[in-house]
Amino acid sequence: MSPSQSLLELLHGNWATQALYAAAELKLADLLIEGPKTSDELAAATQVHAGSLRRLLRALATIDVVRELPANRFELTATGQLLADNTPDSLRHWVIWWGHNLWPVWGNLIFSIKTGRSARTLLTGSEGFGHLERDPATADVFNKAMAELTTLAATDVVGAYDFTRFRQIVDVGGGHGQLLAAILRASPSARGILVDLPHAIEGATRYLHDAGLSGRAQCIAGDFFEAVPGGCDAYVLKSVIHDWDDQRASRILENCRRAMPGNSRLILVERIMPTHLDSSMEHRALARTDLSMLVALGAGERSEADFRALLSSAGFELGRLVTTEMAYSLIEALPR
Ligand SMILES: C[S@@+](CC[C@H](N)C(=O)[O-])C[C@H]1O[C@@H](n2cnc3c(N)ncnc32)[C@H](O)[C@@H]1O
Repeated sequence: MSPSQSLLELLHGNWATQALYAAAELKLADLLIEGPKTSDELAAATQVHAGSLRRLLRALATIDVVRELPANRFELTATGQLLADNTPDSLRHWVIWWGHNLWPVWGNLIFSIKTGRSARTLLTGSEGFGHLERDPATADVFNKAMAELTTLAATDVVGAYDFTRFRQIVDVGGGHGQLLAAILRASPSARGILVDLPHAIEGATRYLHDAGLSGRAQCIAGDFFEAVPGGCDAYVLKSVIHDWDDQRASRILENCRRAMPGNSRLILVERIMPTHLDSSMEHRALARTDLSMLVALGAGERSEADFRALLSSAGFELGRLVTTEMAYSLIEALPR
């Protein structure tokens, strides 16, 4: 590609986000999962404008989400199947989160670059995760979106670190419990506590119950800026610290430190920013999540040195650092 083609390709790539979002919102994959259908059948089932839906389907065919067959019929590809609802590898809610909830926030990136502040706060007046407490429908999308991403990574994370030596494990800001469930499955004699804000607790309780783990897992509504449960062997925080600036991240870690016995372990599951970014897919993904944390929360990804300094300021020393295939690292820290 010439430089101009390359630039225009990057610039215009965002149409795919909205095409995927429209497909996810209309549940096209659920309608196609049993087999091919015509665009008219799909339009009747979703009650949308038939001609426009046909154009959307043909556009989705160009990005390998569906395949166009003779006689105006369309079938799902392997990529398109990920848009189906409630399948084990579904990413439908993540697509809705990006295409609907994060889209206007990203549209104000320039505000965050100028000020270092969250564009979501600019748009909603709400800090951190407060908007979810007031808006159950958005909380539902967010929690399911996080659950889908964490399901993708959980096996890798649990395989990369020996959780079997712990008897009591707390997942701080544990969302709907996908990581805690994976840890408890790998550690049959361990018990778990999941702490999160009220918006996540019903879903977490249901998920852990359906996973057959309610006998070993307890879900507690709590605020990690106030306190976390004391006396456990391991404190796991996945994708939590990157949501907060240093001051607030420090407060969460200090509360963990206060709750932790001397021989317990803190385990952060986070992406680590390398010193130098190149144009590889991995580094693009890191840059994207870093800016996404900026626009959404006024926060960002950290380097190893950043984590070392943050942990030290909260009374920890860095232990082992383990990387996984899904770009997450497990950062083990010991109370000092
Ligand atoms: C990015 S999500 C990560 C969820 C989960 N650890 C995962 O990786 O799937 C951050 C989580 O922190 C929770 N959280 C935010 N503020 C909190 C607070 N003050 N106290 C407890 N949990 C909080 C959110 O509700 C959300 O579930």
